[in-house]
Amino acid sequence: MGEGEWYDLREIDAEESEFPVAATVDGEDIVIFQIGDDYRGAQRLCPHKDGDFVRRGVIMGNGKMLRCSLHGFIFNLASGKGVNAGPQCIDIFEIKREGSRLQARKKQK
Ligand code: FES
Repeated sequence: MGEGEWYDLREIDAEESEFPVAATVDGEDIVIFQIGDDYRGAQRLCPHKDGDFVRRGVIMGNGKMLRCSLHGFIFNLASGKGVNAGPQCIDIFEIKREGSRLQARKKQK
C-alpha cells in the first residue's frame, strides 16, 4: 500500500457523524476521535484482546493518549507505542478535514 497516501473517507460526514466513528483505510479498520476541531485516528482494535476502540477507547492526556477501557492499556497517539502495554503498539493515522469530508493516511513508524 502506498504509505503516505491520503484516503478519502467518503462514509464520514464531519458535521453529521457521531465520534468516535469507524472507517476503513486501504482495507484496515480504524477509529477516528474528534478532539475539539482536531481529529485523531488509530487502528480500530486494541492489540491486547481486540477491544473495540469505537466503544472502548477513551481519549486522555489532553488528546495525546488512547486508553482501552477493557483492561486499561494506554497508547501514545503520536507514536502508537504502548505506555503500560509492554511491547504492544498500535497503528496511527493522520486525519485532515476539508469541508465536511475527512481524509486519513497511515503514519509511518
Ligand atoms: S483489550 Fe484493550 S486492554 Fe485488553
